[in-house]
Amino acid sequence: MKNSALYPGSFDPLTNGHLDILQRAVQMFEKVIVTVAVNNKKKSVFTGDERIQLIEEAIEDKEWRDKVEIEQFTGLLIDFARKKNVNVLLRGVRQISDFEYEFRMALTNRRLAPEIDTIFLMPDEQLTFISATIVKEVAYWGGDLSSFVPDHVAKALRGKYSS
Ligand code: PNS
Repeated sequence: MKNSALYPGSFDPLTNGHLDILQRAVQMFEKVIVTVAVNNKKKSVFTGDERIQLIEEAIEDKEWRDKVEIEQFTGLLIDFARKKNVNVLLRGVRQISDFEYEFRMALTNRRLAPEIDTIFLMPDEQLTFISATIVKEVAYWGGDLSSFVPDHVAKALRGKYSS
């Protein structure tokens, strides 16, 4: 698919940082497939379907909604990219510390699939400290989530940690 990109991640859950990257991606590509990795050996708080629903809700009112598809996958990302006939992967890089892991992952993916390249995007600098891991930590201890995630995600997180 020409002028399309995959935006893969765990999205457990979607944060304002993810949304910022997605918003940038739709300016650059005609179609962006948000690709939710499930069963990637990481213990997740939300199921794949829940994570998709949270992303869906976050973008339903955006004027660029039609440019976005949301799908889940299990297995190797490059296999999914090939299945979708997409050869661009998008990843958000917040800080230099992210880059080491991202660089290794991008080069591994390119070794496995030379036709697939990774493009790194930077979020707004106000959002560079946000990660899903930190958001879950704040949620676990009952902290204010309002500047990290959309309201409906904060509500879903509170639901997960209230029992
Ligand atoms: O949001 P995350 O957890 O940083 O996303 C990482 C993800 C899901 C993109 C990555 O772990 C992934 O692609 N997993 C699928 C397995 C795979 O293809 N690994 C790449 C070889 S290093």
